[in-house]
Amino acid sequence: MPTAIPIHDEVQLPPFKYSHILDVPSEYGDWRDELAVKGWTIVKGAVPRERALQYREEAFKWLESFPLGFDRNDTSTWKNEHLPVHMKGGMFHGYGFPHESFVWDLRQEDGIIDAFAKIWGSDELVTSFDAGSIMLPKRTDVADAGKWEHIDQSRHRRGFYCCQGIANLNENGPDDGGLMVLTGSSQLVEKYFDKFGRSGDRTWGPFDWYGFSDAEQQWFFDQGCEWVKVCADPGDLILWDSRTMHYNVRPTGERDRVCTYICMAPAKLLSDEDKLLRKEAFHLERGTTHVPFAAIYSRDHEPKLRNGKPDPLDTGRSRQPVPRTDKILKLAGVLSY
Ligand SMILES: [Fe+2]
Repeated sequence: MPTAIPIHDEVQLPPFKYSHILDVPSEYGDWRDELAVKGWTIVKGAVPRERALQYREEAFKWLESFPLGFDRNDTSTWKNEHLPVHMKGGMFHGYGFPHESFVWDLRQEDGIIDAFAKIWGSDELVTSFDAGSIMLPKRTDVADAGKWEHIDQSRHRRGFYCCQGIANLNENGPDDGGLMVLTGSSQLVEKYFDKFGRSGDRTWGPFDWYGFSDAEQQWFFDQGCEWVKVCADPGDLILWDSRTMHYNVRPTGERDRVCTYICMAPAKLLSDEDKLLRKEAFHLERGTTHVPFAAIYSRDHEPKLRNGKPDPLDTGRSRQPVPRTDKILKLAGVLSY
């Protein structure tokens, strides 16, 4: 447990118009109340089940499109040498994945847009260019330890700032891997940083990220927070406040875990600088981190290296060009509403 220290190294950020929207008590009378209190919720059937399972098929077709010998029906090929480079046993960020057709189709699903519109009170939204996960069960070649408890919000921000989403594309039970959340932590992180300070960096890059040690988590356990593995059906949209501590786990059962990460926010939050960054990321088909409107963090070459060298199969481009429809260009933040 860290020692309480006076507040210092606090970065003053401008007030955020939406910082109060998930304050407790919350009186929406729907899943937003659970999102406020627990820090996470599930919007059931945001995508029709059959379509969600079809998106899972597309994800597997994407894996099989690489000349690496991966075959979904042959478990002996469920290894790094037969898969595009990924992290955490199945998170794909490179190879243009954030701009694959099925990933963009998911972002355009009415149920997903409606959920974010409800949170923000606006359906004029921009989306992150997040990636997705295809976690195969029974992997024996993944060395990663797996625990990386974090929040996707800077400890310098106050109040609500962003809501993250997972479009869940397969049956996802207790043994199927997926999202772990520290229930109730969203309403406590600010208090935690007020008590223990905001100095030092604890991020792999983006401003809106902070990783917690085991010792730091004890304070949250003492306040009654508990780790929960979120379970969901195909087509469910899992939402969590970016102040909620979370990480993911790999499947330990028989099923694969397939999902994409989607995060939307009002387009009117974009500054001119944000717009330029998003435009560049869209045209170059780069990924971004979750917050779609500010402190945009985009990398030119992801994933990590294969055998110490950039993977020549990673052109950074999706298999098909992203269609320049008005809906996509608006969601991308390239065209104004
Ligand atoms: Fe995260």
